[in-house]
Amino acid sequence: MKTRPVLGVIACERTLNGEAAQSVMLRYLKASLSFADCSALIIPSLPDLVSAEDIAQRLDGLLLTGSPSNLQPARYGEDQAGEGPFDPGRDEMAARLVRAMIARRRPVFGICRGLQELNVILGGTLRRDLSAPNAALPHHAPDGASLEEMFDHTHAVDLVEDGVLARALGADSLQVNSIHYQGIGRLAPGLRAEALSGDGLVEAVSGEIHGAPVVAVQWHPEWNTEATPHAQAFFRMLGRSLRGERLEPSNAKRAHDIAQLRRQDLAHHLPCFQDYKLMEALGGARIITHAKDSTIHDGDGNAILDGMAGLWCVQVGYGREELAEVAYRQIVELSYYNNFFRTATPPTVQLAAKIASLLGGDLRHVFFSNSGSEANDTVLRMARYYWDLKGKPGKKTIIGRDNAYHGSTVAGASLGGMKYMHVQGDLPIPGVARVMQPYTFEEGYGENVDVFAERAAQALEDKILELGADTVAAFIGEPVQGAGGVIIPPKGYWPRIEAICRKYDVLLVMDEVITGYGRLGTWFGHHHFGVKPDMVSMAKGLSSGYQPISATAVSSHIVETLKSVREDFSHGYTYSGHPVAAAVALRNIEIIEREGLVERTANETAPAFARMLAKIGKHPLVGEARSIGLMGAVEIVAEPGTNRRFEGPAGAAATLVRDECIARGLMVRAVRESIIMCPPLVITLEEISTMGQVIAAALDAAAARLTPTKEAVS
Ligand SMILES: Cc1ncc(COP(=O)(O)O)c(C=O)c1O
Repeated sequence: MKTRPVLGVIACERTLNGEAAQSVMLRYLKASLSFADCSALIIPSLPDLVSAEDIAQRLDGLLLTGSPSNLQPARYGEDQAGEGPFDPGRDEMAARLVRAMIARRRPVFGICRGLQELNVILGGTLRRDLSAPNAALPHHAPDGASLEEMFDHTHAVDLVEDGVLARALGADSLQVNSIHYQGIGRLAPGLRAEALSGDGLVEAVSGEIHGAPVVAVQWHPEWNTEATPHAQAFFRMLGRSLRGERLEPSNAKRAHDIAQLRRQDLAHHLPCFQDYKLMEALGGARIITHAKDSTIHDGDGNAILDGMAGLWCVQVGYGREELAEVAYRQIVELSYYNNFFRTATPPTVQLAAKIASLLGGDLRHVFFSNSGSEANDTVLRMARYYWDLKGKPGKKTIIGRDNAYHGSTVAGASLGGMKYMHVQGDLPIPGVARVMQPYTFEEGYGENVDVFAERAAQALEDKILELGADTVAAFIGEPVQGAGGVIIPPKGYWPRIEAICRKYDVLLVMDEVITGYGRLGTWFGHHHFGVKPDMVSMAKGLSSGYQPISATAVSSHIVETLKSVREDFSHGYTYSGHPVAAAVALRNIEIIEREGLVERTANETAPAFARMLAKIGKHPLVGEARSIGLMGAVEIVAEPGTNRRFEGPAGAAATLVRDECIARGLMVRAVRESIIMCPPLVITLEEISTMGQVIAAALDAAAARLTPTKEAVS
């Protein structure tokens, strides 16, 4: 019984035809093939008595190394004297074997040396298919040209990218992956993204031809000497393919039993911030099954434009294979290690440095956690410890604001100003105080905006004086309150707050869990408002929600103080700086940079979003429609031109508008008397305009069901 699959190997590269070169190749293959867990049959030449078909029958797959040169003798032939004999016979043999393998639908792999050589399998060895004049050629092809001739003029890769080769070969699909630096290529539909990565350029062409998986990858110089991680990954994938494993394409949708999932949801799952009795009445949660870019899909077949970027986090949109591949590679290389034991991992350190460079100024150090709440727990502990070390142990109180959200851990919820959270679990903890929020529409309606900004900021000074500056450790605030209802402070508020903190030696902490990573059209919200915090907490957009990770950035003067004693800062989490999350976050930041998402938000999408909301603001149900960057809120009122609310249960009108939006395919959130939005930074202008149409229609539908009253709601 055959226990290990058999891989046929042909070394086609003419420079490797010499004995010494062959032995290098074989040594390399021996090391690498172990990852495929297969037996290798090295095919030196095809004896006349044995046909290619006979050999193919004994093989589970075929690997060609190097470039068959028969298609381009001028390039690989006699003009390169001294590099070994040109061997058309060997190339012809390779071509016959490839055709025999494809006829048997067995996988064919090629490792070649350069870009042009990617035609190893796709072109050179199938040249019989390619030699006829071909109507599928690109328009710039000479009349009557064949694909074979086109290879002389055109990059093989161009032909693949144009889809020409796939059509000519009857291939199901072919694609080119150009992967720079540490990327990983999705090799083949049907093989899924296993991995190709490395330090340097790696390119791959992959697909299926007549039902046979075909993969050609570029030879990377370092593959010559050792089995590098990306070579190992390639061979692992090869092995799985040899065993007949047909892996799902990574974007395949799985079939779910939605009714069963909803039953299990009700029976076993306790979701966040939910009324469990209501969930029962609703028959369980909406099951979100998959998502791409800015659109989520539920189990009932609805496509919903995600106006909330998940929960304020999916900056780069859903379904980025690049991020999956980075996570895969990191897991293979180092799935976990802690930073408790005077140890650190490469992505963690690199991410800390990257965050420091994005923050600029004095915020040079980063402490990692897993969630926004934990990042704020870190703030509380570090700020209090800092004052202890400064010899001011009385400075312990942290001042937050009404209606602020800083998370749901004991510290996070205590720092926040959500009263409905405080009443559960006997919060806040001691040593937390609160001041008013800068909510113009509710608390400064009709008031001169500068006067209101001053009044709201003055509340902090009053509180510090009331408590005594020698008892106040820090002030914490979101640059723009998110969960509180997208509350945009008036101009002048933050600079005034900063001045008060400096005056009384109170640390200024900005909770940038939502406003970080481009949300306001700047990397961080405090950049927008022009202030310099001592600490910054961040999460969400840091990894676009692809992995749970958060961070607390800390100013050098605080770190210097921590260093002033020979004592541990006794704080941390098992998964602080998790290497997989850090690797994904790093690549997420790279995507934001590469695609210019911060600039695009500032110059393109945020203005379009503001214009869309300005139109919504004219609806009779809307008291104010405001936005900053890609965060927005629509205040629902009973009477246009006022801030009077509808009678009845608090929040009912906004909930109705929200539900009408969702029913029309737009996810928004209801907060008290407003609906709020925070779309992915990759949202398109068309999608912003769709948001506007849906919100307008939802407002119309809600208006028809609401009964206006003149009653003011205090
Ligand atoms: C400003 C702010 N801080 C902290 C948090 C808490 O983050 P997490 O839910 O990741 O703990 C949130 C969550 O929405 C937030 O908006």
